[in-house]
Formats: sequence, structure tokens, C-alpha cells
Amino acid sequence: MTSAVLVEELTEDQWRRYRDIRIAALESDGHAFGSSLEAELRYTEAEWRSKARQYVGIIASVASEDIGFMTVENLKGDFGATSWIGSCWVHPDYRKHGALRALFHFIDLQATERNWKKQGLGVWIDNEVAIKAYEKIGFVTMGEPEESTRKPGLFYQRMIRDAVI
Ligand SMILES: CC(C)(COP(=O)(O)OP(=O)(O)OC[C@H]1O[C@@H](n2cnc3c(N)ncnc32)[C@H](O)[C@@H]1OP(=O)(O)O)[C@@H](O)C(=O)NCCC(=O)NCCS
Repeated sequence: MTSAVLVEELTEDQWRRYRDIRIAALESDGHAFGSSLEAELRYTEAEWRSKARQYVGIIASVASEDIGFMTVENLKGDFGATSWIGSCWVHPDYRKHGALRALFHFIDLQATERNWKKQGLGVWIDNEVAIKAYEKIGFVTMGEPEESTRKPGLFYQRMIRDAVI
């Protein structure tokens, strides 16, 4: 990756970028997520807009191509979390070049004013690559694995991180 990574927050009116990168993530790595490609392909504009309001989309691009994404939601989560991270994905061609780290750096810069100081997430217990990346970024495993309600039989691990401010 030669060009710099640009990270920005999507507005609701940019819901098409939100949709397109989320669909790309589900097509490429659907097994990593709690939702399914089939379900999200059926979303209407109103549903994407609603998602974009509830889950703030943070997007990374290289030379105007969207290559990475995650969402942040304000909520009172497990283990004192004030925010919950979801939908983390980086295009396979751009992995291990710091895109996920750049997405987290972007939210850390606003963590105090937006109440994103304690960040939580859930990751499938067998997603070793993501767990390793989250640990490198500062997440710590918390509690025991929990069974998914959306995908019964699959278990996720909760992880917590303090924003670097
Ligand atoms: C998990 C994922 C988002 C990581 O994105 P990424 O852009 O490659 O991550 P970064 O390059 O920012 O790396 C962050 C840290 O994790 C480490 N890391 C990333 N991938 C790694 C791997 N495969 N093995 C070991 N360490 C890894 C990096 O070395 C880096 O640490 P460092 O800065 O101390 O060297 C990406 O692999 C992905 O999209 N996977 C498929 C979807 C998925 O599983 N999402 C998670 C859903 S919970």
C-alpha cells in the first residue's frame, strides 16, 4: 500500500458508501459477522439510513477507493463499555498495512467528547486473525464466550479497550 489511508466519518446521506462497503465485507468474509449477506442485500434505503444513524460508520479509503470500515455505537455495554464497535473489515488487498489501526486512531481522537473512551466488541472465538489484531490495538479479552442469538451454535468473545487519548 503506497498511498496514505484517509479515514472519515460517514454522514447519513452517504448511506450508499456505507451499504457498498458493508456488502463487500459480507461477500468477502461473511463468516466473520453476525449478520448475513442475504439479509443485508434486502435492506431498503430507509433501513440503511436508519443503520447509519444508529451505528456511526467510519470508513478508510486509499486513493479514493473505500478499503476499510467499522461502526461505533454509543451504548452502556458489558464491562463498563461506553461504546460498541462492529462490522470491522479491511479489503483483503490492504490487510496488515495499518488500516484497522488507523480507524481506531480516528475514533480515539474524538473519544472524550463522544463518549467512546471505553470500547467493546464481540468476535467469534475462532477468528484468530481478528483477535490477534484487536490485541495488538489494545483490546483485552473479557469474560467467558457467549453463544450468539443470531447464529446459535457459534460463540463470541467479548473484548474491551481504553481509547488512547
Ligand atoms: C481483522 C482485520 C479487520 C484487521 O485489519 P488490518 O487492516 O489488516 O489490521 P492492521 O493492519 O491495522 O493491523 C493491526 C495490528 O494487528 C496485527 N495484525 C493484523 N493482521 C494480522 C495477522 N493476520 N496476524 C497477526 N497480526 C496481525 C498487525 O500487525 C497490527 O499490529 P502492529 O501495528 O503492532 O504490527 C482484517 O484482517 C479483516 O478485515 N478480516 C476479515 C474480517 C474480520 O474478521 N473482521 C472482524 C470481525 S469481529
